[in-house]
Amino acid sequence: MADNYLEKRYEEVFAKGAGAAKGPQRPGLDNLLRRNRSYRGYDASYHVHPLQMKAILSVNTLTASGMNAQRLRFHAVTEAEEAAKVLQHIKLGAALPELNLPFPGTEPGAFVIVCATTPEDPILDIDLGISLQSMLLKAVEIGLGGIIVRNYDPQKLQAALGLPLAPVAVLAIGRPAETVRLVEVSAGDSLKYYRTDGTHCVPKIKIDDLMI
Ligand SMILES: Cc1cc2nc3c(=O)[nH]c(=O)nc-3n(C[C@H](O)[C@H](O)[C@H](O)COP(=O)(O)O)c2cc1C
Repeated sequence: MADNYLEKRYEEVFAKGAGAAKGPQRPGLDNLLRRNRSYRGYDASYHVHPLQMKAILSVNTLTASGMNAQRLRFHAVTEAEEAAKVLQHIKLGAALPELNLPFPGTEPGAFVIVCATTPEDPILDIDLGISLQSMLLKAVEIGLGGIIVRNYDPQKLQAALGLPLAPVAVLAIGRPAETVRLVEVSAGDSLKYYRTDGTHCVPKIKIDDLMI
């Protein structure tokens, strides 16, 4: 197969089709993945609808699961009062403590609380990663965005929301109100995210350095 066969095929199927006239944004997984950044600021005037949350949660009926055990459970939060409780217990942007993210007025208003029917183990954590990423991609596909949050006290969050199961991760969901830029770096460079003129910059290791 020619080196750039897939690239050429892609151009044939998409770039020369109707999509080309609409601008540079391509359909496909790469595009979804690029837009799927971790957002820590949201448009507070936009309220995520419970049906949007159901669409996001529904990806979990399609995802892989170790031994197909399906031990994750999901609690959708869209009501302001409950969202405020979640917000009290999570921490965003620990690598930029001086910013105290999220900025007032840009807090996320919707959350998925992911719980588990058993204590965490490596297989459950793999299921969890697949689930979280799949839900985020669905959120991006329907015009929203989000962030994975693990920086919280599970017992306090469980008690605050009166959940029957322990939370293993939180997803914040909303309409993003931040500009995020990926910056290509080499292995060994700093991977700490930073902000320049209000743009959130995320270093990502280039492909040649990822391959071993
Ligand atoms: C397992 C996991 C846990 C994370 N927990 C938090 C968190 O508690 N707070 C936060 O602000 N970001 C959290 N993040 C987001 C990461 O900081 C983010 O993925 C990273 O900075 C790279 O940015 P990107 O997602 O836009 O590529 C988490 C991400 C993952 C995958």
